[in-house]
Amino acid sequence: MIKLLTLSALAALGSASLAHAAPNADPALADRGAYVAKLGDCVACHTGPSNQPFAGGRAVPSPFGDIYSSNITSDPKFGIGDYSLDEFSRAVREGVRKDGARLYPAMPYPSYANISDDDIKALYSFFLNRVAAVPKQAPETKLVWPFSMRWGVGLWDWAFGPDGVTPNAVATDAVARGKYLVEGLGHCGSCHTPRGFAFQEKAYHGDDPLFLSGGEIDHWPTPSLRAGGSGPGLPSWTQEEIAQFLATGRNAHGAVTGEMKLVIEHSTALLTDEDNLAIAAYLKSLPASKAPRPTPASDATQRLTAAKVDPNSGERLFLDNCSACHFVDGKGAPPAFPPLANNTLVNADDPAGMIHVILAGSRLPSTPYAPSDLAMPNFDWRLSDDEVANLATFVRSAWGNQAPAVKPDQVSKVRERVVKENREPSAGPIFTDP
Ligand code: HEC
Ligand code: HEC
Ligand code: HEC
Repeated sequence: MIKLLTLSALAALGSASLAHAAPNADPALADRGAYVAKLGDCVACHTGPSNQPFAGGRAVPSPFGDIYSSNITSDPKFGIGDYSLDEFSRAVREGVRKDGARLYPAMPYPSYANISDDDIKALYSFFLNRVAAVPKQAPETKLVWPFSMRWGVGLWDWAFGPDGVTPNAVATDAVARGKYLVEGLGHCGSCHTPRGFAFQEKAYHGDDPLFLSGGEIDHWPTPSLRAGGSGPGLPSWTQEEIAQFLATGRNAHGAVTGEMKLVIEHSTALLTDEDNLAIAAYLKSLPASKAPRPTPASDATQRLTAAKVDPNSGERLFLDNCSACHFVDGKGAPPAFPPLANNTLVNADDPAGMIHVILAGSRLPSTPYAPSDLAMPNFDWRLSDDEVANLATFVRSAWGNQAPAVKPDQVSKVRERVVKENREPSAGPIFTDP
């Protein structure tokens, strides 16, 4: 069939960047879909080094090799422009591609399985009507054998995937809404739930005490998000403080670093206050999995101000390098300078995240609610492995903190990674607002 296109129709096609007629152009539905895409943080993984939103090509690391995200723009050849609603739904909720091949669980479909039909329709409308087509092939994923065989993922799903998922239609109260978001679109468990030998999340639902009990991503410890009861970490944050952290990346207890920065920038900072409060309400409803640590004996502020201080001691190194911003009492000046007393990252059993911040520095993300340029400087050029170990050991035992001592070889391992990151910058700046 031959179609006659007028010049103006051609121009309209070009400017709207829609490669083909969209199946459902209800603008309110597509608007809702744009918000659901933020809840799901789709842009963070599906935008690669070329910085074209949703064009794919970002390497998601797994123990079996890098898995490249797909092009999910409306391009009919290289993207998902020719997917029907059902095909889209199977890919997102069940991990099955249009051609029947299995997706690797680097795409968090085990969590997305609970997305409601309404939200899937809205997402579909957003991707097909609003996301500009990018006619470009995303890089092919090549894992080592036997993981190179996609059909094996079917067995994996059967053995380790979530079961008994009930798509949640309408959440009736804040806790139910929060559960829907955290277990589903927010896929918080993919980083905050410990993984088993087959890289599977050990639990997918809040009634299992392992769910959100803390995990690890790329050698960085992720804290427990189970915020009920009492004890250090999230149980000592109020619901409002948790919501504030999600909206701005900081609060009276700490400031965000590591992979969580991306989650905040691309997802939680862009959500409504009601949704962040709902997430917080749900986390508060989960009883904490760890018993609180006993209260400590020594007073670090006294140790610091004691007259004789050895120049290589952790105390001295802290006074010289850190106290200007974090203060001798370790309380910092939140929200600008986070407290180190009772700080979750500082108290993590695995010190790798904290060592990374000391060596490489960190910059707080700028969010709509809290624009920021504050940075923690890097100390890798200034402090040796021994010095960082002494310093970190001191900070982890001061002001009520109680975490195991740090050894120099733990520092040298993180230093190798920091050197590598500086040599080959990762995915590069990520697109901010679709
Ligand atoms: C944690 C990273 C991550 C997030 C978040 C993520 N994806 Fe993915 N997605 C991937 C990866 C990696 C693949 C490719 C997996 C493979 O090749 O087996 C993929 C594949 C897909 C596919 C299959 C495309 C095809 O070729 O059939 C669709 C559709 C998709 N994602 C949609 C979404 C949507 C919609 C969202 C947000 C609700 C989302 N993704 C969020 C990592 C992610
Ligand atoms: C891509 C991995 C990733 C995902 C997905 C993720 N997080 Fe995180 N999160 C982290 C890391 C890493 C940290 C530790 C950051 C730090 O050390 O400052 C963290 C820290 C946090 C903290 C601070 C806890 C504390 O005690 O300091 C909260 C609250 C949090 N995340 C909530 C969430 C919620 C809610 C979700 C889902 C909407 C989520 N996270 C999804 C990686 C992730
Ligand atoms: C110039 C001010 C400044 C100095 C000096 C400084 N910091 Fe920081 N620090 C910050 C800021 C700002 C942040 C928040 C940045 C972020 O989270 O991305 C931060 C964050 C941190 C964090 C992460 C806290 C969290 O909640 O995740 C740790 C740990 C830390 N600093 C330790 C130290 C140590 C140890 C020293 C001394 C070697 C030091 N800092 C020196 C400003 C400073």
